[in-house]
Amino acid sequence: MSLQWSCQRYGAMGTVSMIKMKIGSKLLLTYFLLIFSIFMITSISFRFISQRYLIHETEQQLQKDAKVMSQLLSKVSLSNNLVQKKLANERAFTVSERLLSSKMIIWRADQEIVYTDMGNVSLDHVMEKSKGPDRKFVTKTESIIAKNGKIKGYVTLVASLRDINNFNGMMRKSQLVSLVISALIALFLGIFFKNSLTKPIRLLMEHMRNFSLKGANKEISIKTNDEIGELADSFQALTSKLKQYDEDQKMFFHNASHELKTPLMAIQGNAEGILDGVVRGDDIEKSLQVIIAESQRLKKIVEGITYLAKLENVEESFFFSSESLDAVIREAVQSVKSLAEQKGIDIKVDIRVFEAVLMDKEKMKRAFINLLGNAIRYAESIIVVSAIQRESEREVTIEIRDDGRGLAPEESQKIFQRFYSGEDGGSGIGLAITKAIIEAHHGIITACNSEEGGAVFQIRCPLKR
Ligand SMILES: Nc1ncnc2c1ncn2[C@@H]1O[C@H](COP(=O)(O)OP(=O)(O)OP(=O)(O)O)[C@@H](O)[C@H]1O
Ligand SMILES: [Mg+2]
Repeated sequence: MSLQWSCQRYGAMGTVSMIKMKIGSKLLLTYFLLIFSIFMITSISFRFISQRYLIHETEQQLQKDAKVMSQLLSKVSLSNNLVQKKLANERAFTVSERLLSSKMIIWRADQEIVYTDMGNVSLDHVMEKSKGPDRKFVTKTESIIAKNGKIKGYVTLVASLRDINNFNGMMRKSQLVSLVISALIALFLGIFFKNSLTKPIRLLMEHMRNFSLKGANKEISIKTNDEIGELADSFQALTSKLKQYDEDQKMFFHNASHELKTPLMAIQGNAEGILDGVVRGDDIEKSLQVIIAESQRLKKIVEGITYLAKLENVEESFFFSSESLDAVIREAVQSVKSLAEQKGIDIKVDIRVFEAVLMDKEKMKRAFINLLGNAIRYAESIIVVSAIQRESEREVTIEIRDDGRGLAPEESQKIFQRFYSGEDGGSGIGLAITKAIIEAHHGIITACNSEEGGAVFQIRCPLKR
């Protein structure tokens, strides 16, 4: 039984969740419901409040009029003629100001009626029908006091409840008309706002659907000054990044295949030469040395590509700790020292950073070794490695300068691309690895030439993230 119930319940929920509604329809529906509730609440409350208010107002008005009338009549003897005469002079001014016309009965203390404008309707009938569920009249009676202080008669003012109800009905009708007009205006505005809100969303959606990495894409023309405009801008920025990434990727595969093909062809050529007997005698040893050297180059390229891919894709490949920059730089210099000495190059180190730097020590060392390796290849006689920490900024600036031929004007950007290598260069992957390492430390690396002409590599890196 309970299983059946829960199945039914699940079925119902499933149906509800399956009803797909567009954002514009949701907005419009909410808006309609809001207008409808306001409409209902206003008309129901008006119906009750206005009726009570009108009866209360009429009672107050009758009370006032009856008082004025009783005061007027206090100086007059309560006989038919005199009362009629007095009324002809005085009564009109009070009655004409009233919202709902009222009738009047003037009667003496002995219950004899001296004046009435209600025709044959008796005083008893009026009194009986002015209360209870069958109420027909709203009445107010005021006593007429004689000079001696005795009550000589009464003024009863009578308003018809039907008149009040009719008046209330009229008011309700006009209220209903104004509510309907307001609701129609609100609906019209609602539809207008819904369209102006959903149009840019639809445009953006269409643009997203038509977006393609291949070929040109149209610019998004959504210029709304709101979150949708921001979303369109973010999408535009994202697509530019995607396109750039796609371009980089294509370039990478193109360059990688080219770089791998060169040593492979040398290996194949030399190996075939030996096998076919074209290479003979002492040349066989030379060919074998070429095969070994090209194999090592191949190995280095593959290692470089794998390392770079790991750096760019695997966040966990970094192990950060607080390290002394001075020690890391000196260890890197130590690694390349014998190579520099072989080429007669002096390496000067000037480190003025005394605070620990948050870094992956091994990777940072590799970055410095790459830069120093390049500098040794191109330097004439000296390399200067310096590092300073600016007082105001929480970052360090490291520079590696050499006195070599420097960079060609168009090279300062290109050299960080994967597989870019200039004259006398290697596989062109060292600086791409260095850049990836520095960026993983939230730093930036730039290259330029010094005034003397040699290359200057500058790294700016935060002390801690
Ligand atoms: N100190 C420098 N002076 C002049 N040119 C440089 C210097 N450092 C790098 N370059 C230029 O930048 C190119 C790219 O350097 P990168 O380190 O990426 O590759 P590579 O040294 O050619 O090969 P790899 O480092 O992979 O063995 C070099 O081939 C060279 O043309
Ligand atoms: Mg290099």
